[in-house]
Amino acid sequence: MTQLVLPQHTNALGTAFGGQVLSWVDVAAGVCAGRHARAVCVTASFDEVHFKLPIRHGDVVHIVGVVTWTGRTSMEIRVRVDREQIDGRRERALEAFATFVCVDTEGKPQPVPPLELLTDAHRACWDRAELRRRRRLENRGR
Ligand SMILES: CC(C)(COP(=O)(O)OP(=O)(O)OC[C@H]1O[C@@H](n2cnc3c(N)ncnc32)[C@H](O)[C@@H]1OP(=O)(O)O)[C@@H](O)C(=O)NCCC(=O)NCCS
Repeated sequence: MTQLVLPQHTNALGTAFGGQVLSWVDVAAGVCAGRHARAVCVTASFDEVHFKLPIRHGDVVHIVGVVTWTGRTSMEIRVRVDREQIDGRRERALEAFATFVCVDTEGKPQPVPPLELLTDAHRACWDRAELRRRRRLENRGR
């Protein structure tokens, strides 16, 4: 997903409003989850999000979502957000991990297709996602 940062997306400093960026991240992750599941998916959780760099008015924002893990009905989506300045310099502004759950017409969780792991990089990514999931579920009740 690509977005141009316009005045209505910014705060008093002329940098992108955090909630706006999170909304784009949620949409990109939702599209990613929906394309994998080919069914409606809802946001179940977001891990900690750290805004590493400000994104300014006039920057182009590149948002890339990838399914990194699938469970029975849930999926982890990694979303990376880069800012591109007018000179073409591109830098990572944030990375976020979201969990989406595939639901039926009643909003009840339903199975998702398993993720195919084709490379060692995919397998390594999966292993890291499993650790995050364990931590996430432990923290859920706090
Ligand atoms: C997400 C939701 C569908 C889960 O329903 P539920 O009845 O709690 O479902 P279950 O306990 O059976 O869990 C279903 C899956 O979601 C996972 N899950 C549930 N809550 C989670 C959370 N907070 N973080 C990560 N995973 C979660 C479970 O581990 C399970 O995964 P698995 O099937 O891959 O093993 C339900 O909580 C919901 O509708 N939430 C609101 C969603 C919404 O409105 N989102 C928009 C935000 S405003």
